[in-house]
Amino acid sequence: MSKELTGSAAPPPAEALDSRPTPSRRTFIATTTAVGGAIAAGGLAGPLGFGAEEASAAAPSSSLSLTVNGRRHSVVVDNRTSLLDLLREHLELPGSKKGCNAGACGACTVLVDGRRVNSCLTLAVRLEGAEVTTIEGLADGDRLHPLQEAFIEQDAFQCGYCTPGQIMSGVGCMKEGHTGSAEEIREWMSGNICRCGCYTKIVRAVQQTAGGK
Ligand code: FES
Ligand code: FES
Repeated sequence: MSKELTGSAAPPPAEALDSRPTPSRRTFIATTTAVGGAIAAGGLAGPLGFGAEEASAAAPSSSLSLTVNGRRHSVVVDNRTSLLDLLREHLELPGSKKGCNAGACGACTVLVDGRRVNSCLTLAVRLEGAEVTTIEGLADGDRLHPLQEAFIEQDAFQCGYCTPGQIMSGVGCMKEGHTGSAEEIREWMSGNICRCGCYTKIVRAVQQTAGGK
Protein backbone atom coordinates (compact mmCIF):
# COMPACT_ATOMS: atom_id res chain seq x y z
CA MET A 1 0.00 0.00 0.00
CA SER A 2 1.31 3.48 -0.87
CA LYS A 3 2.31 6.02 1.76
CA GLU A 4 -0.35 8.54 0.46
CA LEU A 5 -3.20 6.12 1.33
CA THR A 6 -1.91 4.92 4.69
CA GLY A 7 -0.74 8.34 5.83
CA SER A 8 2.29 6.68 7.31
CA ALA A 9 4.87 9.15 6.11
CA ALA A 10 8.38 8.52 7.35
CA PRO A 11 9.49 10.79 10.28
CA PRO A 12 11.86 13.67 9.36
CA PRO A 13 15.54 12.94 9.75
CA ALA A 14 17.01 13.78 13.15
CA GLU A 15 19.26 16.51 11.62
CA ALA A 16 16.19 18.38 10.35
CA LEU A 17 14.72 18.52 13.89
CA ASP A 18 18.01 19.61 15.41
CA SER A 19 18.39 22.49 12.94
CA ARG A 20 15.16 24.23 14.15
CA PRO A 21 15.98 27.43 16.10
CA THR A 22 15.36 26.86 19.83
CA PRO A 23 14.44 29.99 21.85
CA SER A 24 17.10 30.58 24.46
CA ARG A 25 16.42 32.07 27.91
CA ARG A 26 18.07 35.27 26.65
CA THR A 27 15.81 35.64 23.57
CA PHE A 28 12.74 34.84 25.69
CA ILE A 29 13.60 37.61 28.18
CA ALA A 30 14.41 40.07 25.38
CA THR A 31 11.09 39.39 23.66
CA THR A 32 8.92 39.72 26.77
CA THR A 33 10.77 42.88 27.84
CA ALA A 34 10.15 44.46 24.43
CA VAL A 35 6.44 43.60 24.56
CA GLY A 36 6.14 44.90 28.14
CA GLY A 37 7.88 48.14 27.14
CA ALA A 38 5.54 48.63 24.22
CA ILE A 39 2.50 48.19 26.48
CA ALA A 40 3.89 50.63 29.06
CA ALA A 41 4.74 53.20 26.41
CA GLY A 42 1.64 53.16 24.30
CA GLY A 43 -0.95 50.80 25.71
CA LEU A 44 -2.20 47.69 23.97
CA ALA A 45 -3.16 48.26 20.36
CA GLY A 46 -6.82 47.58 19.61
CA PRO A 47 -8.05 45.43 16.75
CA LEU A 48 -7.90 48.39 14.34
CA GLY A 49 -4.41 49.37 15.40
CA PHE A 50 -5.55 52.19 17.73
CA GLY A 51 -4.12 52.56 21.21
CA ALA A 52 -6.54 53.30 24.08
CA GLU A 53 -5.95 57.06 23.80
CA GLU A 54 -6.57 57.24 20.05
CA ALA A 55 -9.65 55.02 20.39
CA SER A 56 -11.07 57.30 23.06
CA ALA A 57 -10.24 60.43 21.03
CA ALA A 58 -11.92 58.90 18.00
CA ALA A 59 -15.07 57.81 19.90
CA PRO A 60 -18.09 59.56 18.40
CA SER A 61 -20.18 61.70 20.70
CA SER A 62 -23.60 63.30 20.38
CA SER A 63 -25.55 66.23 21.76
CA LEU A 64 -28.62 65.27 23.67
CA SER A 65 -31.50 67.07 25.36
CA LEU A 66 -33.72 65.25 27.81
CA THR A 67 -35.76 65.93 30.91
CA VAL A 68 -34.79 64.25 34.17
CA ASN A 69 -37.10 64.63 37.16
CA GLY A 70 -38.74 67.65 35.54
CA ARG A 71 -35.47 69.41 34.77
CA ARG A 72 -34.23 69.91 31.21
CA HIS A 73 -30.62 68.91 30.49
CA SER A 74 -28.53 69.42 27.36
CA VAL A 75 -25.37 67.34 27.33
CA VAL A 76 -22.73 65.99 24.98
CA VAL A 77 -22.03 62.33 25.61
CA ASP A 78 -19.89 59.57 24.18
CA ASN A 79 -22.30 57.48 22.12
CA ARG A 80 -21.50 54.44 24.26
CA THR A 81 -22.71 56.08 27.50
CA SER A 82 -25.54 54.25 29.24
CA LEU A 83 -28.43 56.14 30.80
CA LEU A 84 -27.22 54.87 34.18
CA ASP A 85 -23.76 56.42 33.70
CA LEU A 86 -25.31 59.61 32.37
CA LEU A 87 -27.40 59.90 35.54
CA ARG A 88 -24.71 58.94 38.00
CA GLU A 89 -21.60 60.46 36.47
CA HIS A 90 -22.80 63.42 34.39
CA LEU A 91 -25.96 64.60 36.14
CA GLU A 92 -24.89 63.78 39.71
CA LEU A 93 -27.93 61.63 40.43
CA PRO A 94 -26.46 58.56 42.17
CA GLY A 95 -29.79 57.22 43.47
CA SER A 96 -30.06 54.66 40.66
CA LYS A 97 -27.66 51.88 41.58
CA LYS A 98 -25.19 49.91 39.49
CA GLY A 99 -25.47 46.28 40.53
CA CYS A 100 -24.61 44.00 37.64
CA ASN A 101 -24.41 46.60 34.82
CA ALA A 102 -25.75 43.85 32.58
CA GLY A 103 -29.54 43.84 32.87
CA ALA A 104 -29.74 41.05 35.44
CA CYS A 105 -30.53 42.71 38.81
CA GLY A 106 -32.85 45.70 38.31
CA ALA A 107 -30.93 47.95 40.73
CA CYS A 108 -30.73 50.60 37.99
CA THR A 109 -34.47 50.69 37.18
CA VAL A 110 -35.84 54.12 36.20
CA LEU A 111 -38.89 55.29 34.27
CA VAL A 112 -38.49 56.56 30.71
CA ASP A 113 -41.66 58.18 29.40
CA GLY A 114 -43.52 56.38 32.18
CA ARG A 115 -42.17 52.90 31.38
CA ARG A 116 -39.64 51.10 33.55
CA VAL A 117 -36.28 50.30 31.97
CA ASN A 118 -32.92 48.98 33.06
CA SER A 119 -30.89 52.15 32.69
CA CYS A 120 -27.62 50.17 32.46
CA LEU A 121 -28.84 48.68 29.17
CA THR A 122 -30.27 51.89 27.72
CA LEU A 123 -28.05 54.03 25.54
CA ALA A 124 -28.35 57.69 26.53
CA VAL A 125 -28.14 58.91 22.92
CA ARG A 126 -31.42 57.17 22.15
CA LEU A 127 -33.28 59.37 24.64
CA GLU A 128 -33.49 62.67 22.77
CA GLY A 129 -36.57 64.47 24.14
CA ALA A 130 -37.34 61.71 26.67
CA GLU A 131 -38.77 62.23 30.15
CA VAL A 132 -36.81 60.28 32.74
CA THR A 133 -37.86 59.78 36.35
CA THR A 134 -35.40 58.47 38.91
CA ILE A 135 -35.76 57.76 42.61
CA GLU A 136 -34.63 61.34 43.29
CA GLY A 137 -37.68 62.66 41.45
CA LEU A 138 -40.34 60.57 43.16
CA ALA A 139 -41.01 62.59 46.30
CA ASP A 140 -43.05 65.77 46.14
CA GLY A 141 -40.78 68.16 48.00
CA ASP A 142 -40.62 66.82 51.55
CA ARG A 143 -43.54 64.44 50.96
CA LEU A 144 -42.42 60.94 50.08
CA HIS A 145 -44.16 58.98 47.36
CA PRO A 146 -46.74 56.60 48.91
CA LEU A 147 -44.64 53.61 47.86
CA GLN A 148 -41.57 55.07 49.59
CA GLU A 149 -43.68 55.47 52.73
CA ALA A 150 -44.96 51.91 52.40
CA PHE A 151 -41.38 50.59 52.13
CA ILE A 152 -40.61 52.28 55.44
CA GLU A 153 -43.81 51.07 57.09
CA GLN A 154 -43.30 47.50 55.90
CA ASP A 155 -39.57 47.58 56.68
CA ALA A 156 -39.05 46.37 53.11
CA PHE A 157 -35.26 46.73 52.94
CA GLN A 158 -32.14 45.72 54.74
CA CYS A 159 -28.93 47.02 53.10
CA GLY A 160 -30.98 49.26 50.81
CA TYR A 161 -28.87 48.78 47.70
CA CYS A 162 -31.68 47.34 45.61
CA THR A 163 -34.32 49.64 47.10
CA PRO A 164 -34.32 52.52 44.56
CA GLY A 165 -34.72 50.01 41.74
CA GLN A 166 -37.40 48.08 43.65
CA ILE A 167 -39.38 51.26 44.29
CA MET A 168 -39.11 52.50 40.69
CA SER A 169 -40.10 49.06 39.47
CA GLY A 170 -43.00 48.99 41.94
CA VAL A 171 -44.21 52.36 40.64
CA GLY A 172 -44.02 51.00 37.07
CA CYS A 173 -45.77 47.82 38.12
CA MET A 174 -48.65 49.81 39.62
CA LYS A 175 -48.95 52.01 36.52
CA GLU A 176 -49.15 48.87 34.39
CA GLY A 177 -51.88 47.45 36.62
CA HIS A 178 -49.97 44.30 37.49
CA THR A 179 -50.87 44.32 41.17
CA GLY A 180 -53.93 42.06 41.31
CA SER A 181 -52.33 39.61 43.72
CA ALA A 182 -49.06 38.93 45.52
CA GLU A 183 -48.23 36.33 42.85
CA GLU A 184 -48.80 38.84 40.07
CA ILE A 185 -46.60 41.44 41.77
CA ARG A 186 -43.88 38.82 42.30
CA GLU A 187 -44.06 37.83 38.64
CA TRP A 188 -43.94 41.37 37.28
CA MET A 189 -41.16 42.44 39.63
CA SER A 190 -39.10 39.31 39.14
CA GLY A 191 -36.40 41.31 37.34
CA ASN A 192 -35.57 43.11 40.58
CA ILE A 193 -33.24 41.06 42.74
CA CYS A 194 -32.87 41.63 46.50
CA ARG A 195 -29.79 39.93 47.88
CA CYS A 196 -31.05 40.51 51.42
CA GLY A 197 -34.19 38.54 50.63
CA CYS A 198 -36.78 41.17 51.56
CA TYR A 199 -39.22 39.97 48.91
CA THR A 200 -42.18 39.29 51.19
CA LYS A 201 -42.10 42.80 52.62
CA ILE A 202 -41.44 44.41 49.22
CA VAL A 203 -44.52 42.71 47.80
CA ARG A 204 -46.54 43.80 50.85
CA ALA A 205 -45.41 47.42 50.34
CA VAL A 206 -46.51 47.38 46.68
CA GLN A 207 -49.80 45.71 47.62
CA GLN A 208 -50.43 48.27 50.36
CA THR A 209 -49.81 51.18 47.99
CA ALA A 210 -51.74 49.71 45.08
CA GLY A 211 -54.67 48.92 47.37
CA GLY A 212 -54.58 52.43 48.81
CA LYS A 213 -54.49 50.99 52.33
S1 FES B 1 -27.33 47.33 37.12
FE1 FES B 1 -28.80 47.38 35.57
S2 FES B 1 -29.83 45.47 35.73
FE2 FES B 1 -28.22 45.32 37.19
S1 FES C 1 -32.22 45.33 50.70
FE1 FES C 1 -30.22 44.55 50.39
S2 FES C 1 -30.23 43.91 48.35
FE2 FES C 1 -32.29 44.41 48.74
